[in-house]
Amino acid sequence: MKATATANANIALTKYWGRRDRRLSLPFTDSISMTLDGLSTMTTVHFDSKYKKDIFILDKTEFKKGTEYEEVARYLDIIRKMSKIKLFAKVVSENNFPTAAGLASSASGFAALSLSGSSAAGLDLDAKELSILARTVSGSASRSIPGGFVEWHKGKKDDGSDSFSEQIAPPDYWDVRMVIAVTETSKKMTSSREGMDRSVKTSPFFAQWIKECEKDAKKARKAIKEKYFALLGTTSEANCIKMHTVMMTSAPSIFYWNPLTLEIINSVMAWRDEGLECYFTIDAGPQVKILCQEKDAKIIENKLKKFRSIKKIYACKVGGPAKLIQSHFF
Ligand code: PMV
Repeated sequence: MKATATANANIALTKYWGRRDRRLSLPFTDSISMTLDGLSTMTTVHFDSKYKKDIFILDKTEFKKGTEYEEVARYLDIIRKMSKIKLFAKVVSENNFPTAAGLASSASGFAALSLSGSSAAGLDLDAKELSILARTVSGSASRSIPGGFVEWHKGKKDDGSDSFSEQIAPPDYWDVRMVIAVTETSKKMTSSREGMDRSVKTSPFFAQWIKECEKDAKKARKAIKEKYFALLGTTSEANCIKMHTVMMTSAPSIFYWNPLTLEIINSVMAWRDEGLECYFTIDAGPQVKILCQEKDAKIIENKLKKFRSIKKIYACKVGGPAKLIQSHFF
């Protein structure tokens, strides 16, 4: 009972920040994302009677306890319950980009785990069921199942059965790009889940944030449908700034940016003033993701290369869905 899957990371253009149900990762808002081609996780899951407990190896390091181990074991428990199997599993997973540094590794990771785990357990879940399973621990993982431009419907039900992600448009629909500047590769100080729970409880702007997201998601949906790049860019940049305002006004305050993050933000604004159409977005970390059109991607990459302290640059096309593959890690 072994299966391997790959899933791409995704970056929200209108964000998810705040859970109405922590156990099920149910959001207060809809969110819209672009799947990133080339930033991916590959995961092999093997259920077998020879394992006396669950084994989890991520990027060649074995996690024997702690948050990472517990989250994976919790997923496996859900899968065991759904499939009625009682076996422990070995999980081996690798990201081809830095883990937990604001590059959406939990999204690709839990999407790949949901697909490989459910398939290794003999379940044949459809895209909606998979996205609900992926959502259960890391909300944004639900958006890494369908591929292309994706919308995660917040849903209304308490059991989460209507909170899932769906494709708005496939990867080849619109050739926009995301150029990513990695400003730091260390693990972030405040995890996104811890941070968003704090914002729900303490930011004086949280109620307004929910209202803004509603309007922004509507604009982003329209922008994608009409391939209206300026609307998508301005909406997504403004939504990111609102989210970071909520983060910064939480108590204790959460700042994910470093000086280089701010320097790149200022540069993006200056380039735009000079006629180079690009927009930034930032998640729970210091990396800057720049949304642009295909014709400008190389120009932006070359401009970023002039910043000596940028650790790494990725230029991503719109990526595809999570999928099963035939080669395994072991
Ligand atoms: O899915 P999580 O728990 O890793 O949270 C993701 C939060 C943000 O990346 C900041 C926003 C988003 O919508 O992806």
